Amino acid sequence: MGPSIGRRALLLAMASTPAFARAAVTAGPDPAPASLSAAARRSVRYFGAAVRPELLEQDSSLRQLVVRDCDHLTPEIHLKWDALEPAKGQYAYGPADSLLAFAQAHGLRVRGHTLLWDRSTPEWAKRELLERRRWRLVAEHFARTMGRYGDRIGEWDVVNEPVDTEGGDAGLRLNTFHRAFGRGYVRDALIQAREIAPGARLLINDYGFEYANPVDRARREAFLRLLEELKASGAPLDGVGLQAHLDLGKGPLDARGLSAFFARLADLGLDVTVTEMDVKEDDYASSLGVRDGRVADEARRYLEIALSQPAVRGVVTWGLSDRHSWLSEGDGAGNPAPPGAAPPPLNRGLPYDDRYAPKPMYWAIRDALIGSSRAGFAYRAPRAGRVA
Ligand code: XIL
Repeated sequence: MGPSIGRRALLLAMASTPAFARAAVTAGPDPAPASLSAAARRSVRYFGAAVRPELLEQDSSLRQLVVRDCDHLTPEIHLKWDALEPAKGQYAYGPADSLLAFAQAHGLRVRGHTLLWDRSTPEWAKRELLERRRWRLVAEHFARTMGRYGDRIGEWDVVNEPVDTEGGDAGLRLNTFHRAFGRGYVRDALIQAREIAPGARLLINDYGFEYANPVDRARREAFLRLLEELKASGAPLDGVGLQAHLDLGKGPLDARGLSAFFARLADLGLDVTVTEMDVKEDDYASSLGVRDGRVADEARRYLEIALSQPAVRGVVTWGLSDRHSWLSEGDGAGNPAPPGAAPPPLNRGLPYDDRYAPKPMYWAIRDALIGSSRAGFAYRAPRAGRVA
């Protein structure tokens, strides 16, 4: 037997090898994650933000934050039908192509937002759909969009905002598609998308479920009814997107109603993604400290409820910095400002302020992601690339 080396000497020798050094680091106190996506990975989730490619091109600070904090991106505008085909047969793929190239260069995934949304359907298509009622127009739009991007996008918001409990037909919005094809259009859209991209994850995305008021309660019920109907009919639906445009003017979150809502979505076998989170302020006069505290508290309260449900697989904010938020543009609700109207105040409802400093909302999101366990869930990346 050769000379035996002592245990201490052996440990010291091993400690000098890189593998051991790595093991020692991970076995020690867990260092704080350095970004929102790193925090999300702790609970087998992802973090992303909505982006506009022209801002990424112009602004290197924004670019750095996006690459640092996100592992998913959502095109805020440029994958919508009116952006891709503003006039019939005239295609404008440039901005979406550039966003996809940016994502690919940095190893980020892209969410396909969105194939069918009344508000982003070009006027020419609305007219044609209502006059001729030919599904072919929708099918061709899907085939072109998913055909071009389906090798890199594995998750699509196939139908956006189908629910309307105030002026709709039994909970479904009376939009162009409902008027042209009846309430079966949601199912037909899912079937169409599945035919084109058999491996993609297909979602329905909607808003207005969070607060303790009769409209939000009715919207939750109507959404669940629609999903139950779709599931019962065998429609190819993998999950839902909950926009989560939080609003401090709407009173307290309905914690109990929301938890039950998340549980029922999970019971239907659906994955859930928080797709468009931001916080609309209702008091712009208080100090920045007070305002930022309120925004962060709202985000924390919502995420603590959402992330206690293991079916929730990712969180996306609608922008990353207050410098570029739809809530501070136009009429503050995604429409052009009425002529002569003053611009809306700068809303502070995103993780970074307008000079790219992280705000309390950033830490609230980070802490909620770290604090939520999703043990037993493996992150299943959608199978992009299988486009028929
Ligand atoms: C908004 C964009 O942020 C705006 O820039 C655009 O003018 C209108 O659309 N729900 C959605 C998003 O699903 O696509 C919307 O995005 C915000 C509300």
